[in-house]
Amino acid sequence: MSRLKTAVIGTGFMGRVHLEALRRVEHVDVIAVAGRQMDSAKKLADLYDVPAAVTDYKELLKDPTLDAVHICTPNASHYPIAKASLLAGKNVLCEKPVAVSTQEAEELTALAAETGLRNCVCHNLRFYPMVQQMRRMREAGQLGDVLVAQGTYSQDWMMFDTDWNWRVDEKASGPSRVMADIGSHWFDMVEHITGLQVQSLCADLQIFFPTRKQPKRSVESFTGKMPSEEDVDITPVTTEDFGAVIFRLGQSARGAMTASQVSAGRKNGLSVEIYGTKASVAWNQERPDELWIGNRNTPNQIIIKDPSLLLPSAGKYADLPGGHSEGYDDTFKQVFRRFYASIADPSLPADYPQMKDGLRQMRLLDAELASSKNRSWVNPK
Ligand SMILES: NC(=O)c1ccc[n+]([C@@H]2O[C@H](COP(=O)([O-])OP(=O)(O)OC[C@H]3O[C@@H](n4cnc5c(N)ncnc54)[C@H](O)[C@@H]3O)[C@@H](O)[C@H]2O)c1
Repeated sequence: MSRLKTAVIGTGFMGRVHLEALRRVEHVDVIAVAGRQMDSAKKLADLYDVPAAVTDYKELLKDPTLDAVHICTPNASHYPIAKASLLAGKNVLCEKPVAVSTQEAEELTALAAETGLRNCVCHNLRFYPMVQQMRRMREAGQLGDVLVAQGTYSQDWMMFDTDWNWRVDEKASGPSRVMADIGSHWFDMVEHITGLQVQSLCADLQIFFPTRKQPKRSVESFTGKMPSEEDVDITPVTTEDFGAVIFRLGQSARGAMTASQVSAGRKNGLSVEIYGTKASVAWNQERPDELWIGNRNTPNQIIIKDPSLLLPSAGKYADLPGGHSEGYDDTFKQVFRRFYASIADPSLPADYPQMKDGLRQMRLLDAELASSKNRSWVNPK
């Protein structure tokens, strides 16, 4: 099988995670890293034995041998980079949210369809084996009809007014912060598991810190580095720290969720509970190998990830035997592997989230923002 060539754009948290996962994907070579500063691009390229480092991603797009790009930069740059990449004939794997407006996402979705290139939006959390088990149990009728979906995505890394990141800046992040950053993962997962779409929603978004202490220099995500007082500006905040959403799912199911970046002690606390007419399932990202199954007339169960014991359609998302944990990092490998397999073999279906799924999340975000602003129910487009 001939090898595919790719490049990673962005040298922060996701740049590193993508580079590491790409090392574990068969038949793919990373030929360049692009960053805004040469020193960070070069450092990362050297660390992962990538032959080239550049400061302008457009340089990469001129290379006719390059098959794909990974876009791991702040949200507002996704649209220009994805558009330029598709126009240059490159397959695109873009971090979420796909864009900062529905209009941009619509344009990218249309362009991807027009070009026929493979496109993926990195809603990687779908690819935990236990998330797939929930999905396949629902497909197999084991849950019955879905009645209720509920849960949360709670983190604490923005709980002090000294916490700052480009995500606070609407110009870099878009008009929503928490709902775009992590709420979009939650809704993507719930729609994926249930096979139902949110028909209508009522959202209440809250900014707890109307100002934050912005470092005068840029800081990388999730490093926990604290700036000193003289190094900060007091900056108004326009995007939410917290959101609560109640929603109607499909024809008759109902749901409720919260998303927060100010919940002390919750590091990456995504939980999903699905209640059906036959049984329930509940899963928590911080204990990814466990799935709780709730029954009315027989004892509840906690099953542990073991591909030989999962439904076969879910077991294929796990690479290791039971007792050998698979977590966050592995979800990227699962997405990337399917993305590159579909580039190598055009007859394969796209078994991963695409631009159109990213667009779906942008439409939900629009509805959440409008609902919270007008204190009313909104039907997403
Ligand atoms: N799928 C997931 O689980 C997940 C997790 C975290 C972040 N993300 C997404 O990944 C993206 C990046 O987030 P992050 O946490 O890695 O941020 P980060 O701040 O750690 O890194 C962003 C990097 O992009 C660089 N950059 C900015 N503009 C650029 C440009 N025009 N060209 C090249 N590099 C540029 C910055 O210098 C920085 O190195 C965001 O869209 C975010 O929503 C996804």
